[in-house]
Amino acid sequence: MKRPIAMIAGTGRAVPKRTMSNDEFAAIGIETNDEWIRERTGIRLRHVAGEGETLTSLGAEAARVAMQAAGVTAGEIDSIVMATVSPDHLLPSAAVEVQAAIGASRAAAFDVDAACTGWIYGVTVAEGLLATGSAETVLVIGGELLTRIVNWKDRNTCVLFGDGVGAAVLRRATKGRGVLASYLRSDGTLAQLLWRPAGGGVKPASQETIDDGSFFVQMQGREVFKHAVRSMADACDRALDQAKLSADAIDLVIPHQANIRIIEATAKHANVPMEKVYVNVDRYGNTSAGSIPIALDEAIRAGRITDGSTVLFVGFGAGFTWGSLVVKF
Ligand code: UT7
Repeated sequence: MKRPIAMIAGTGRAVPKRTMSNDEFAAIGIETNDEWIRERTGIRLRHVAGEGETLTSLGAEAARVAMQAAGVTAGEIDSIVMATVSPDHLLPSAAVEVQAAIGASRAAAFDVDAACTGWIYGVTVAEGLLATGSAETVLVIGGELLTRIVNWKDRNTCVLFGDGVGAAVLRRATKGRGVLASYLRSDGTLAQLLWRPAGGGVKPASQETIDDGSFFVQMQGREVFKHAVRSMADACDRALDQAKLSADAIDLVIPHQANIRIIEATAKHANVPMEKVYVNVDRYGNTSAGSIPIALDEAIRAGRITDGSTVLFVGFGAGFTWGSLVVKF
């Protein structure tokens, strides 16, 4: 089927009110410092959900903003695809909770679990729904409350992650605008480099799993870093090849925001100057599935994406999963 099939008609984002600076970790007994975190990751701040702030409340807020930008009502949404690894409840899906919150009563709603690449996966699933005629209007939401599943005693992980949600409304493409290329990959043989060992069927949640930290996110950072650089480079090449575009034709790159050093390595490989790369990891940390759609919404509202812009999205995360999109606006 000929592309473009799906276009991004509107975007939104929502983050918790409270921000936490690098200096605040010392107060909760974490042996770290602002200089280490900034130099190794580029992160200065992250948002942390407080009482009453849930993935559902932030997801619904981001969705409402996206629907308003797209000029559609909740009743017009045919499908909600929600990318997350930190749902409010393990059963049912996060997507149905957002559906109920926004009153999208006609929608089919389900989650996509592809960690930091989740929103890119979600857009591709939405494209398929539009291509088959199963849907005309799809909400693709990506977001997390990672601060609820990290180990606040583990400095290897707790300084890296933050909370937030981004959303986009996808509709049938018009005037040649929309998704021009999509590339998705995964490698489950590397799953244990970034995972939650307990809490599922193999090792159900217990006091022991909380005490030994296996209930929370665990990561072998250096290994993940190497794979992230390699896979994001691969994903840039594949999407550009598929779209038959050279790097010069890209107006903006929106990479997953995990670490400024990974982002810089990706830009260098893709031969795109950093002026054409959107960076907000300094203000959000790593919000996993939220990272790319939050950056997209900021970039649109800041005027960095306008009519006619061609944008390369590239992500990598637990699984491992990685992927990319080229989208014309
Ligand atoms: O979302 C997709 C998946 N996630 C990622 O893409 C993250 C990928 N990984 C990374 O971004 C980096 O590997 C990290 C930021 C996690 C770590 O940076 P690094 O340069 O790879 O450091 P390292 O893990 O090799 O650790 C260097 C040192 C260690 O000390 P020793 O063994 O050299 O004495 C760590 O114990 O830094 C120590 N360290 C810390 N020191 C201060 C680790 N965490 C901290 C900390 N504060 N928070």
